[in-house]
Amino acid sequence: MKVLLVNGSPNKKGCTFTALSEVKNQLEKEGIDSEFFWIGTKPIRGCIGCRKCKSTGVCAFDDDIANELLQKCLESDAIVIGSPVYYAGPNGALCAVLDRVFFSSVERFAHKPGACVVSCRRGGASSSFDRLNKYFTISNMPVVSSRYWNSVHGNTPDEVKQDLEGLQVMRTLAKNLAWMLNSIKNQEKPKLEVGINTNFIR
Ligand SMILES: Cc1cc2nc3c(=O)[nH]c(=O)nc-3n(C[C@H](O)[C@H](O)[C@H](O)COP(=O)(O)O)c2cc1C
Repeated sequence: MKVLLVNGSPNKKGCTFTALSEVKNQLEKEGIDSEFFWIGTKPIRGCIGCRKCKSTGVCAFDDDIANELLQKCLESDAIVIGSPVYYAGPNGALCAVLDRVFFSSVERFAHKPGACVVSCRRGGASSSFDRLNKYFTISNMPVVSSRYWNSVHGNTPDEVKQDLEGLQVMRTLAKNLAWMLNSIKNQEKPKLEVGINTNFIR
C-alpha cells in the first residue's frame, strides 16, 4: 500500500514538508509506504472549465504538473495533501492544480482515503483545512481524522518542530490512516450511483 504525500508549498523542505515528514515517519512505523510529490515553483494553470477531462480522463493542458499529479493520485491507495496557509486559505497554486486533478476524476478517486494538513504562522489554519477537505468530500473519499484539525504552527521548520501538539496531531493522523487502510483492504467498495446534477432549479 502506498500513500501519496503532496507538498503544496513552494518551499521544498519548509514547514509543510516538516509536518508531512512526521506523517511519513509514523506511516513507516505502521508498515505503510509513502512518497512525496512536491508541486514545485513553476507556473501552474487554473482550470478553464473546458470539461475535456470528462471525456479524456486527463487535463487538456499538459504543460505543467497537473497530469503527473493526477497519475500519482490514481496509483496511490491514499492521499495526504499539505499546504501552507496563505491569507487564511491554501496556497493558490495548489488549489489551481487540485481543481484540475479532482475535476477529471470523481469516480476514480472514490473510496480512496484522503486527509489534509496545513501549516501557518498564526491564523487561518481552520479555513484552509476546511477548503482542502472539500476535494475529498465531493469525491466519495473517506476523510481520515486526527485528534484535532490537522495543523502545525511555525514560520520555519525549526518552529514547527517546537509545536509538539501539532506533531502529535500528524502522528495520530498517520496511525488512523494506517488503521483505515488496513481495515478496508480486501473490502468490497460500495457501488456508485449515477450522479444527479439539479443545479438547484428543480
Ligand atoms: C503569501 C503568504 C501568505 C501568508 N498568509 C498567512 C496567513 O494568512 N496566516 C498565517 O498564519 N500565516 C501566513 N503565512 C505564513 C505561512 O503560512 C507559514 O510560514 C507556513 O508555515 C509556511 O509553510 P512552508 O514553509 O511549507 O511554505 C503566509 C505566507 C505567505 C508567503
